Amino acid sequence: MLDLDRLITAFDNGLRTLLAPAHSARPVPGGSVAEPELTDAERQLAAALMRVNHSGEICAQALYQGQALTAREPSARAALEQAAAEETDHLAWTAQRIAELGGRVSVLNPLWYAGSFALGAAAGLLGDKWNLGFLAETERQVEGHLESHLDRLPVEDAKSRAIVDEIKSDEARHARTAVEHGAAELPEPVKQAMRLGSRVMTRTAYWL
Ligand SMILES: [Fe+2]
Ligand SMILES: [Fe+2]
Repeated sequence: MLDLDRLITAFDNGLRTLLAPAHSARPVPGGSVAEPELTDAERQLAAALMRVNHSGEICAQALYQGQALTAREPSARAALEQAAAEETDHLAWTAQRIAELGGRVSVLNPLWYAGSFALGAAAGLLGDKWNLGFLAETERQVEGHLESHLDRLPVEDAKSRAIVDEIKSDEARHARTAVEHGAAELPEPVKQAMRLGSRVMTRTAYWL
């Protein structure tokens, strides 16, 4: 059952995610590492990749909010809310790093948020095992995507790399948590569609 209070809370969380700076509970990884000497091209590349990651974290916030809104079992909902809190750290870390690199966040973030929220809510309506299955698959795909960023980020940019590394290990843990709570394995065509959707987002956020 959807109740109005949860809907209003979700709307409020959405506005806050998009408009207010995120605060992290944990210190930023690589925070004590000195700012590296980067060429302009390296700095732009790192900022663009971190912008993609930041948009990914905007999507994560929206997915989790959407899923928590429609999750049925209190234990599933609690697991989703716990992971969502860790996603807030990711959002804050990536935003901070983009600012340090002199970059900007994606102008399309409200669009990514709305789309991901709808997807998350729809997954939640299918029942907890599919909801968690969707979550586990999302986290696995994000983990693979972050791995590819570790290949592309400038080797000198130890600060961005430390953040991506830490996020990657959190996402792997989120996937395991979802499986422990009874995630179903999604059909292959659904996984393919998810890959396609995330490719559109990551390619667009790189530029916009
Ligand atoms: Fe994340
Ligand atoms: Fe995650």
